[in-house]
Amino acid sequence: MSIKKVCVIGASGKLGQYMVQHALDLDYDVVGVCRERSVGKLERFKGRITLIPGATNDRELIKNAVAGCDGVLTVLVPWGVNQYSSGTAQAVLDYADPGARLIFSCGWHISMDGQDVYSRTFTTLVKVFGWLGRFLRVVELDDQVEACRRVFASSAKWTVVRGSSLEEGESQGLPVWSEHVGDPILKSDLTRRVDFALFMIKALENDGLIQKAPAIIGCQTPSALTHKS
Ligand SMILES: NC(=O)c1ccc[n+]([C@@H]2O[C@H](COP(=O)([O-])OP(=O)(O)OC[C@H]3O[C@@H](n4cnc5c(N)ncnc54)[C@H](OP(=O)(O)O)[C@@H]3O)[C@@H](O)[C@H]2O)c1
Repeated sequence: MSIKKVCVIGASGKLGQYMVQHALDLDYDVVGVCRERSVGKLERFKGRITLIPGATNDRELIKNAVAGCDGVLTVLVPWGVNQYSSGTAQAVLDYADPGARLIFSCGWHISMDGQDVYSRTFTTLVKVFGWLGRFLRVVELDDQVEACRRVFASSAKWTVVRGSSLEEGESQGLPVWSEHVGDPILKSDLTRRVDFALFMIKALENDGLIQKAPAIIGCQTPSALTHKS
């Protein structure tokens, strides 16, 4: 499928800004959605993208933003305790054009088929972060799980990109991926955020990733270099 116009939902965050830049580099028309208070973070893109300020789980706003887009890139974040992630995902699933490529971001803690193998440390960290977030009413990790459950159940052309731990830095190239966390190629657990964004963008035109949930890792990490072939 040839992509011409994309919507980046959560455009002002770190991942979102990288995706906007990659999309412009590919000459896509870009619509960005971000919270009103964060519009200033996109100042450097002024005049080059159409910006729609507002909450990403505002259904009418999302309906307007995704209209006519061949691709929708959604940063799924579990902030707050008001079903922000699942509300965002549902709005995208309900209103994106039929046939549009839908790419969602999340972390390794999301499992599509229950076949991922997690270290004890990882499982403990997710549990503690989830419990603490809910206790302090700032993060609702379970809602990101629910958002992805709805995506996985959908018949749309979705891809859920599961990011490893992230770092900043120059691009190292397109990350490699595997079906399941625990696969040896993913052992290094590190990806540059700019390359996470690149994977999201490239997924738009990769039909091999439709209805898959690739777990990604930087292509220059030791485990990727060892197991790439
Ligand atoms: N951080 C990691 O180590 C990591 C690891 C693996 C996967 N991921 C995944 O990568 C994606 C990007 O995450 P990131 O950590 O790198 O952050 P990020 O790109 O900076 O994105 C954070 C997003 O959350 C929004 N946000 C922040 N506070 C909010 C609030 N209170 N209410 C609503 N929205 C709020 C930000 O919008 P504003 O610009 O308006 O603040 C921004 O769009 C996510 O899908 C995450 O699950 C992250």
